[in-house]
Amino acid sequence: MKVLGIMASPIREGNADILLDKALEACKKQGARVEKLFLAKEQLPLCQACFKCSGAGKCVSTPEINKILNKIKRADALIISTPVWWYSCTSYLKILIDHFVAFVNSDFSSRIAGKKLAILTVSAGGEEAGTKETLSLLKRIAEFLQLQCAGELRVINTGEHGVVKENLNALLKAYKIGENLCKKKGKRRNKDVCGD
Ligand SMILES: Cc1cc2nc3c(=O)[nH]c(=O)nc-3n(C[C@H](O)[C@H](O)[C@H](O)COP(=O)(O)O)c2cc1C
Repeated sequence: MKVLGIMASPIREGNADILLDKALEACKKQGARVEKLFLAKEQLPLCQACFKCSGAGKCVSTPEINKILNKIKRADALIISTPVWWYSCTSYLKILIDHFVAFVNSDFSSRIAGKKLAILTVSAGGEEAGTKETLSLLKRIAEFLQLQCAGELRVINTGEHGVVKENLNALLKAYKIGENLCKKKGKRRNKDVCGD
């Protein structure tokens, strides 16, 4: 099994990064091949809305994004880890998501249907600070692309750099999500909120 971790924060060893590493650690332990994509380091051209990708199955206007789209195509499972930015995912992730039109056929069926997806979110604020909205947005997109949502985690009150490291409950939940994503048996879905 191949797992692609998509790190959507520009902060290395920050909260989203720490949780993603925990989940990926569990995937590795389950025997999965794991790769982490640090979006802030990648070339992320803006979608030009030409819709040529829908027929071609790849981006035609800004082909440099195809490197990432191909990684997603090749993965069996994805783990997206994003902080909340203005009640949504980060702009890095949104730019990538816009290119997902390349995964949609002209009849609106998905070229990446059936892949598993886990979503991890962190926010500085509490319950009303945007993790619910961010999860809901990403799950709606996953549903459209016929991905199989196999785990979700919201960790709130993570205002300081790397503070999630002290939240053992959140680390454990992230680990469990990775473990369940890669387990052959057991379709238990993890759905959690951590913080205080
Ligand atoms: C541009 C920007 C917008 C943000 N918007 C929100 C927000 O709407 N709600 C919130 O609770 N935190 C917000 N935050 C705070 C981050 O979600 C929070 O600090 C998070 O833990 C950062 O994770 P990281 O260390 O992985 O980057 C924002 C941070 C930035 C940089």
